[in-house]
Amino acid sequence: MSSRGPRLVLIGKQGAGKGTQAVRVAESFGVMRLATGDLFRAAINEGTEIGIEAAAFINRGELVPDESVIDLVETHLVLEDRQKRGFVLDGFPRTQVQAEALDKFLGDFSLDVVVDLDVPTEIVLHRIAGRRVCEDCGANFHVDNPPKKNAFCDLCGGEVVQRADDTEDSVMRRLELYEIETLPVIQHYRRSGALGRVDGSQEADRVFSDLLDLVKSRFSARDH
Ligand code: AP5
Ligand code: MG
Repeated sequence: MSSRGPRLVLIGKQGAGKGTQAVRVAESFGVMRLATGDLFRAAINEGTEIGIEAAAFINRGELVPDESVIDLVETHLVLEDRQKRGFVLDGFPRTQVQAEALDKFLGDFSLDVVVDLDVPTEIVLHRIAGRRVCEDCGANFHVDNPPKKNAFCDLCGGEVVQRADDTEDSVMRRLELYEIETLPVIQHYRRSGALGRVDGSQEADRVFSDLLDLVKSRFSARDH
């Protein structure tokens, strides 16, 4: 049996399904999921210094400055030796500077696979417009597939609301920044040979099954 789980990055447009799939794949391999957007939203709810700084950027759809995000991720990855034991990164890296910092930080414990969760823009716009999230546990819903008790989470009973940065202006800015800042990250991993692609426009179970196949094939091909 393997002594560690995969070291995996999920990249995709806003609303591509990174959060939805990261939860499932992390659970399936028994590794930690680290979602930078979720960490910032928790810090905003708690009113911490990081949260106050991040809120100004997030609500406008701007990226939080690289140094803050890199610090946050490295702090979480060193806990319990996670950088060696495996992880799923959701929403990081999304700039070239972040990708280079992650490569340097991981050193010999390099990524097993970076998945480009590919979804056309018209589909992500529909998904984001209808997305609803649990304020307490972050679970994702959609107006087309709401929680059973309407505004309350199926998993924890928390209140299910629209995300503060899911406004039209913020979403358009996030998609613009994806093209400018994140497409070069995909090129970076294509050059390094770590990149794989999954068609994220399929229904969620099918996406998950394709994702698992890809991760297993890349992970089992390496020594660990
Ligand atoms: P973050 O929270 O990462 O937001 P995002 O990148 O905009 O991505 P989303 O969470 O909107 O989409 P998702 O791909 O997770 O889709 P989901 O699974 O929810 O970041 C927020 C902000 O934090 C950033 O804008 C930035 O300011 C800051 N930040 C975070 N990381 C940063 C970094 N590294 N550097 C700088 N700043 C950073 O799915 C969307 C909807 O679709 C849901 O309703 C879901 O139920 C539904 N859905 C999912 N899959 C399917 C499917 N296959 N079929 C149908 N519906 C589906
Ligand atoms: Mg997300």
